[in-house]
Amino acid sequence: MAVVSTLPPELQQLRGSIRLLESTVYLASCSQGPLSTRVEGAVRSFMDTWNTAALGWEEWGRQVESARAGFAAMINARPEDVAVGTSMSQLVSSVVSAYVRERRAPRRRIVSSLGEFPGVAHAWLGARAYGWRVDQLAADAVAPLDPLDVISAVDEDTAMVSVPHVSYQSGAMLDVDEVIAAGHARGAAVFVDAYQSLGTIPIDVRASGVDFLASGTAKYLLGTPGIDFLYVRQGLHEQLEPTVTGWFGRTDPFAFDAASLDYAPTAARFDLGSPPVLPAAVAECAMDAIREADPGRIRTQVESLVASAIELGGELGLRVLGPKVAAARGAMVAFDAGTTTEGERLSSVLLERDVVVSPRGRAVRLSPHGFTLQEEMEHAVRELALLAER
Ligand SMILES: Cc1ncc(COP(=O)(O)O)c(C=O)c1O
Repeated sequence: MAVVSTLPPELQQLRGSIRLLESTVYLASCSQGPLSTRVEGAVRSFMDTWNTAALGWEEWGRQVESARAGFAAMINARPEDVAVGTSMSQLVSSVVSAYVRERRAPRRRIVSSLGEFPGVAHAWLGARAYGWRVDQLAADAVAPLDPLDVISAVDEDTAMVSVPHVSYQSGAMLDVDEVIAAGHARGAAVFVDAYQSLGTIPIDVRASGVDFLASGTAKYLLGTPGIDFLYVRQGLHEQLEPTVTGWFGRTDPFAFDAASLDYAPTAARFDLGSPPVLPAAVAECAMDAIREADPGRIRTQVESLVASAIELGGELGLRVLGPKVAAARGAMVAFDAGTTTEGERLSSVLLERDVVVSPRGRAVRLSPHGFTLQEEMEHAVRELALLAER
């Protein structure tokens, strides 16, 4: 394939740091981000320190705090408003535990949806065991979550509204500002799952006023699985005492005081046990690379790639799942394969041809990043259309 398009220097630098792009068209960051030489270097230097320092804990602790601060900087938060965990499911379970412990809470309802990533949905469903009502609005790859449905579902009993910023099923992007405004107008807190958006869409939690926002580094942030961050708005985290907790949620974990459950004054009260030190060392470095490339610049590139894939796919007879306009999508175009089996078949034949995409249910998901070239996106759409015809 002759390479003709050029990227802005910052994106070209990001591209140049990913060796996999020399041999594949990589369109699967919605599932797993590719490895960069910077991340590889971070793993190596983690091993070096481990090999040379007698006890690594001091340096490891510093890296966890740098990762916390790095995540805070990505979303315009203060490090004190960010918790570090090992998965989003775990962090949301901690949030649930802080809410359901109030036996006489006047509001005992959570509005969620079937468009939620299952691990997040399951954490909210756990509240039912405590007598809470958890309503799941309809949403799937064909009919993504409608913000108006979310808004009209919020009532005086609702304590929490949970929405994904970008759907993992279809790539549809939700207008979270509308949901936040409606939730707050009715006295409910709003949680946003930004796993499918952070890194490719600029996020500013202070401007949006969101109460909770979580993301991990395994996808568009180009880090590893094993670390997730939870933002909890200042003024709110001080009021919450999660019972799903651990020694890193304490005021001073190193007091080794087994007798008291003193909650840290910051959002670190949502931290649990020993932190994920290796993913944190990687996360710090991975997020630096994304910040240097700039999420705003990445968004511009991604939107243009998504627009051309929608247009070309349409011309070639492929059906897009979710919105047909790039501005209403995250870094993903989902084409309809009809069935899960067919989606998996198409994706594995594409893989044999060095085009990496991600099947999910009936969708074949093509997710570009700031490092993706126009001709790569078009090549993938053409190959998919050819295969789908057979
Ligand atoms: C939207 C979304 N949320 C959350 C997750 C992952 O959650 P966890 O960190 O609990 O594995 C994913 C992973 O695919 C996702 O796509």
